[in-house]
Amino acid sequence: MSDSNNQSTHGMMAEFDSVDSLLAAARRIRDAGYTKIDAYTPFAVHGIDDALGIKPTKLPWITLTGGVIGALTALAMQIWMNSINYPYIISGKPYISLPAFIPVAFELTILFASFGSFFGMLALNRLPRFSNPVFTNPRFDLATDDKFFLYVDAKDARYDGEGVARLLGDSGAASVDPVVEDETPTEVPKIFFTLAGVLAMVAIIPVLVVAMMRVTTSSQPRFHVFYDMDFSPAKDAQQVTTLFADGRVMRPDVPGTVIRSEDGFDIDFQTGVDMEALAAMDPARAEHLVRLVAQAPADEAAPADEAAGDQVADAQAAGGASEPVDNTPWLQDNPLEVDAELLATGQEKFNIYCAVCHGVSGRGTGLVHLRAQRIQSPTWVQPSSLHQDILYANNYADGKLFSVITNGIRKMPGYGAQISASDRWAIVAYVRALQLSQNAEESDVPAGQRAAVAQAE
Ligand code: HEC
Repeated sequence: MSDSNNQSTHGMMAEFDSVDSLLAAARRIRDAGYTKIDAYTPFAVHGIDDALGIKPTKLPWITLTGGVIGALTALAMQIWMNSINYPYIISGKPYISLPAFIPVAFELTILFASFGSFFGMLALNRLPRFSNPVFTNPRFDLATDDKFFLYVDAKDARYDGEGVARLLGDSGAASVDPVVEDETPTEVPKIFFTLAGVLAMVAIIPVLVVAMMRVTTSSQPRFHVFYDMDFSPAKDAQQVTTLFADGRVMRPDVPGTVIRSEDGFDIDFQTGVDMEALAAMDPARAEHLVRLVAQAPADEAAPADEAAGDQVADAQAAGGASEPVDNTPWLQDNPLEVDAELLATGQEKFNIYCAVCHGVSGRGTGLVHLRAQRIQSPTWVQPSSLHQDILYANNYADGKLFSVITNGIRKMPGYGAQISASDRWAIVAYVRALQLSQNAEESDVPAGQRAAVAQAE
């Protein structure tokens, strides 16, 4: 290195005619103490690593490190996503379920290990490299054909041009040449910059086209890239299909299906009726109600929706408008414990499902009603005020109110399908509170808060 004559010399290249002479020379050079040496052969030569004194590669360690990082990344990612950032129960597994994390962990282990191998190999070999001074020797091309080359780098501590050349010559080299600096110009031809510029411009065009399509309208039908994603073959409710013998898209429940809900199954709770008492009085109707709730085979049950509501209405009509008679053994009281939490749920659900028609205060003047009036809808019936005497608890059992919410009544549709049974009972509790709020006596207000009420007035 200190030799100034070697400035433009990268090293010494010796050419050999056979594998054996190459191996013998490599051993000699190695034994002479040179370490920065390399061989170029047209095919893999067994024993060359040993002959050159090449140490085993570090690549497996880089690959292992990549794999370990991959596995840890996958586990950390899944644990964070599934149990910290967005805890979500999937198939009843715990948030941190290692068996479930294995596929992703496996994939990332492989991926990062491959990255380690691939990029590690490039880095260890100092690639990519577009040119190498050894290419300056025109004979070097034969390294891909039938000649064998041994190269001693000038960076080797023991390197001195003359001595190496002599050693190589003595070792049976057909020829020995110094590897000189590559003097060919290194600038990138201008045409490449022009091409890159043109490509960059062209690449913007699809983006612009998409952007334009998003802000303009067209009289032509839309272009569907994935036709079957835009138009799925799924059927809509009530359509006909050839898939089933009866032609119905909507499948009836399997006979004997019983509702399972978060409430468990309690027939009184689901119907608002004391079913044992009803069975004693009117077995047919009791059976009918049980069927409705338990979803008996469709061909045996009466149309499910309004039947129970009609029962209430019929009972009222039967007794004449002035004095309705309804001897259904309704549950008198809410089966749920009425506390602040239940009332809060009830208020929330009431404001979602009932207030649109009955109004937030329950006076029957919700937004839907106001709108119906404005457009003078001829068929609209005003939602009942929930503050009519007839609807107060002493005239109107909680179970009956529950049944109205569940099955609807006369013009009012039922909400049993949308609102769970316990939420319906919460609404019942809230309607009671609402009724109380409109008729409260001073004595209903806790003593400590009467002053505040008086002030508000
Ligand atoms: C789509 C509008 C609408 C919604 C939503 C609605 N109701 Fe009604 N409700 C009515 C109408 C209309 C009537 C009067 C029906 C009639 O007399 O034909 C009525 C009647 C009632 C009655 C009187 C029953 C009787 O025996 O006379 C009660 C109680 C009642 N609704 C409670 C509720 C509750 C609680 C909710 C929320 C779960 C609710 N309604 C949601 C329209 C609605």
